[in-house]
Amino acid sequence: MEPLTVPADDVLAELEQLAVEVALEAGRLVVDERPVDLGVSRTKSTATDVVTVMDQRAQDLLRSRLREARPGDGFLGEEEGGTDRESEITWVVDPIDGTVNYLYAIPSYAVSVAAVVGDPTTPGAWRPVAGAVVNPMTGELFHARLGAGAWLRRGEGEATRLVIGEPPALGHALTGTGFGYDAGRRLWQARVLVDVLPHVRDIRRIGSAALDICAVAAGSLDCYFERGLNSWDMAAAWLVLAESGGLFTGLGETAPDPSMAVGAAPGLHAHLEALVRRAAEAAGSE
Ligand code: IPD
Ligand code: CA
Repeated sequence: MEPLTVPADDVLAELEQLAVEVALEAGRLVVDERPVDLGVSRTKSTATDVVTVMDQRAQDLLRSRLREARPGDGFLGEEEGGTDRESEITWVVDPIDGTVNYLYAIPSYAVSVAAVVGDPTTPGAWRPVAGAVVNPMTGELFHARLGAGAWLRRGEGEATRLVIGEPPALGHALTGTGFGYDAGRRLWQARVLVDVLPHVRDIRRIGSAALDICAVAAGSLDCYFERGLNSWDMAAAWLVLAESGGLFTGLGETAPDPSMAVGAAPGLHAHLEALVRRAAEAAGSE
């Protein structure tokens, strides 16, 4: 893998500010313009992997705002319409992470915007350098840039720095996870869950990977694991968790990738990683 060049801190600060502004704007759009009769406009990998008209509208807004501000940067979004880059930065966005919650009006969904270096289409070949995750229903805004800490602002309040707390033992850890849209993937995930559940406090399946990972940084979950994350699900939240002092990896010391992502405070991470690894091995192939 080519070495990843990180921009200077003044550039990172601009990227973080831009991520915050556009994520907040897209968050307002998805809430204010949510049609009363919101339905599914198309499906992707399976019949339950839905896209609403607002996923596409929010992504179009993000792409045009980012393009106006930084025309040379690349763009990769969950919905259709990526672009190539001339600079070292690619914007990796999930216009609505938690689309099924959005469809059902469950207030746990987020806009996730990250500036990354490297190639976000190749697992392990990229890393986030600035980003923001907004839950427009609760007004929570998580943001971070490399080396400058993770921050949480609620509504118009002051931002507070997130420093991950001392974790409980694995047996007392409230553990977030999620499931994919493909039936075979879900069966595998269910087999893994059977082996994990007896060893943790309980499981939460909140429905937005970006919010789950930020929740670990903020202490409202103790840890998180999931197979099947795409770069847009995790890019901004990965940085928030890492900048809060947490660890976010794949199995072993690899970068998180679609085969597995594991996040927790340092004192808990190795225990969760070992449990998930054993469960994944026992579950066999998908
Ligand atoms: C999904 C959510 C969910 C996770 C899935 C993701 P989407 O993203 O983050 O919590 O379990 O793996 O695909 O489809 O709502 O953007
Ligand atoms: Ca997503």
